[in-house]
Amino acid sequence: MKSFWIITSILFLCILQMVGDHEYRGDDVSYTGGTPGFDETTGERRGGWDQESDVYSEDVKEVQDSKLLAVRRPVIPGSPIRGLTPTEFERFRLGREDFLEVETAEEGLGPAYNGTSCGGCHSIPAVGGTSTISEIRAGYKDELGNFTALYGGTLFHLLSTPPHRAQVMIPPEANIIARRVPIPLFGAGLVEAIPDDTIISLEDPEDSNQDGISGRAARIIDIGTTFPRIGRFGWKSQHATLLAFGADAYRNEMGITNALFPHELALGVDPEVLKLADPRPALEDVRERTTGLRGIDNFESFMKFLAPLERGPITSSVIKGDEIFKIIGCENCHIRQLKTGPSHNPLFDRKAVNLFSDLLLHDIGTGDGIPQEAALSTEIRTPSLWGLRFRRPFLHNGSAQSLHDAIASHKNEALSSGQQFLSLTSEQKSDLLSFLNSL
Ligand code: HEC
Ligand code: HEC
Repeated sequence: MKSFWIITSILFLCILQMVGDHEYRGDDVSYTGGTPGFDETTGERRGGWDQESDVYSEDVKEVQDSKLLAVRRPVIPGSPIRGLTPTEFERFRLGREDFLEVETAEEGLGPAYNGTSCGGCHSIPAVGGTSTISEIRAGYKDELGNFTALYGGTLFHLLSTPPHRAQVMIPPEANIIARRVPIPLFGAGLVEAIPDDTIISLEDPEDSNQDGISGRAARIIDIGTTFPRIGRFGWKSQHATLLAFGADAYRNEMGITNALFPHELALGVDPEVLKLADPRPALEDVRERTTGLRGIDNFESFMKFLAPLERGPITSSVIKGDEIFKIIGCENCHIRQLKTGPSHNPLFDRKAVNLFSDLLLHDIGTGDGIPQEAALSTEIRTPSLWGLRFRRPFLHNGSAQSLHDAIASHKNEALSSGQQFLSLTSEQKSDLLSFLNSL
């Protein structure tokens, strides 16, 4: 009789385990309308969104009920921001699907491309993040130092679709070859909602306060609306909106032509050759019949609603490091908090954005030699430091393996704070690094 109960209990536990496994499938997104995801008592992840059947697990209701207790659950990387309406969540979900979709040549991939899905390069620590892949840009600089882009722009495509007629090779005349690493997209919708005027109010192109820092706002023309805007996305602040950046990436990273970038383009490849190599000469990103949405609309929704990463544990060393970050002038560029403008959408209405950036272009001596949109060859946009603990390697070209090396390469406009960093005691340095690793 005893063994009967033992066997029955084991069977029961196995069944529980199987049910559990079923609920955990595709566990990196949870519905945060009232965030499921963590078990309050054990701290373990649970429930969430079942990607295969597109249903939310039982947890959702439970968690919505427990919201009454005002328990704040941690946001899992890759989740949407809290408080989406069901329609917004559906847009986020569709966007996430497209963001992860691996494209083929029949669907328009190529003829020259760098990746088969957005997610391929934006995946660490979760969908929408970064990766260690780096891309190559190339161009030509004459004896006078003038930069000329070669035919097809500056982005070098590493791959091509068979029969590889449009395979890009770095042209022999290219004497500037630079690398760029991906930028994580967590919280991008909040960054998009920061008013142009906020960024303009931070710039000091003539360094009139004589602090050695002369950041410039990137005045660009938005390709989606043709209006003048302030760029904030990309290492060169080359775009102001997520729609435009997504469309640029769809054509330039994946070779998928779309309403904003309707023609194939590949560095150094003759347009005629490109035409012959393209099995789908018509526009490739078309509206989906069931939803009426284009791929570029879906990417925009996913990135817009993607939640920022939360801070790591705050220890006493982190608190001391935070103080040092202020004192040695890091915050002159890595501004802790900006605010979104007024918006009819409560998710974006005058919200604090703890990004640690002024979104301005600066010359800190790391420029890649390539001018792009409003940015000079010497300028790079201050990167946001939120989520820094999940990023490796550092700097636009991934040339710094450690935070120490990244900070030590701050020269020119950042010379003063770079030097102050180098003259910190080893204890102060380690506090500063703890702080940076808590972001
Ligand atoms: C081959 C790798 C690769 C693929 C594929 C890729 N990206 Fe990126 N992404 C990058 C790199 C590299 C950067 C930085 C580029 C720069 O500034 O020059 C970047 C930057 C971005 C940014 C700017 C973020 C910010 O805050 O500044 C957005 C937005 C973005 N990508 C969206 C997308 C979307 C949408 C797709 C799919 C259509 C995509 N990416 C596909 C590599 C990739
Ligand atoms: C004058 C403006 C300025 C100041 C002051 C400044 N930074 Fe930066 N910081 C930048 C820019 C611009 C970059 C991007 C450089 C690049 O990628 O080539 C950067 C990059 C970084 C990175 C790498 C981030 C990444 O995503 O790769 C870290 C970390 C960093 N800064 C920390 C600091 C710290 C700590 C201080 C204070 C000692 C500081 N910065 C002061 C402008 C500044």
